[in-house]
Amino acid sequence: MPTYAGAMAKKKLLLDCDPGLDDALALLLAHSDPDLDLVAVTTVGGNVALDHTTRNALELREFLGFTDVPVAAGAAGPLVRETKNAAEVHGPGGIGDVILPRAKLPVDSRGAVDLIIETLRNSPGEINLVATGPLTNIALALRKEPRIIEWAASFVIMGGSFTRGNTTPAAEFNIYADPEAAAEVFAAGWHVVMVGLDLTLQALVTDAIRERMLALGALGRDLVVPLATFWNDPQDPDWGGQAVHDVCAVAFVSRPDLFSSVPARVEVEVAGQWTAGMTVTDFRSSRPNALVPVTLDVDGFWDYVLERYARAAA
Ligand code: BDR
Ligand code: CA
Repeated sequence: MPTYAGAMAKKKLLLDCDPGLDDALALLLAHSDPDLDLVAVTTVGGNVALDHTTRNALELREFLGFTDVPVAAGAAGPLVRETKNAAEVHGPGGIGDVILPRAKLPVDSRGAVDLIIETLRNSPGEINLVATGPLTNIALALRKEPRIIEWAASFVIMGGSFTRGNTTPAAEFNIYADPEAAAEVFAAGWHVVMVGLDLTLQALVTDAIRERMLALGALGRDLVVPLATFWNDPQDPDWGGQAVHDVCAVAFVSRPDLFSSVPARVEVEVAGQWTAGMTVTDFRSSRPNALVPVTLDVDGFWDYVLERYARAAA
């Protein structure tokens, strides 16, 4: 019964996100990969305000056609700090120049925290929880129902780094935006897959990748390329094209073989004057709480992602 066997092999995924250029590209991957089953989307304030991230998720749901997947809104801002955003990178609305048709379907009446808890409780051991924004919703879900660490099949974040930041010299945006939430999440007793900057800065939209995206036709021209090239920062010493950070976290669930990963202990700095939000990563620890992807098979990654996008384009 090959069809049934194939369906059984699908990995279920709940995406907590703040779309966001690369969050939108991550949603597209989660939707278009036949080996993944996107079961729920939750939103958090991050790159832009919560009403924008939620509107973007709702519009992407209808534009891409995963209308049976609930979208629930979560925390508007961090646990204790002032809200910070990254509108200078993602544009004031969060998805650059892309304008999608207004969504007709409503947001789920459950909040993000309850949707996360219910989804994990109803399918223990089956849901891969992926977070590509600040970790506020996840921390609040943990406070309300600590057993989610037992129910999640895996927990993958895009966030942190082990060498450098992008928002400050020490801190990556998703962790910097809510360090207290991140500290609670890393301390919760599960193994966090930390897909951080050192990894995601290997996944750059070079001119050659942009050409391959354009070859996807209308989806490439109207959505993928605008999302993947809006941010332009040639002043950045690392610059080789826009990074698709959040896509890497979804890719890890489907294709962990594309990543070389190392166990580590990660502590989140919450007190530092200059280092708030730093993910202090000890690869020598005998008490690992994280798995840290460190190198990416870049060619394999793009072959995988673009093949999946081509399915959506067709
Ligand atoms: C992360 O921050 C956000 O701006 C991106 O969407 C990504 O999740 C990269 O540091
Ligand atoms: Ca994001």
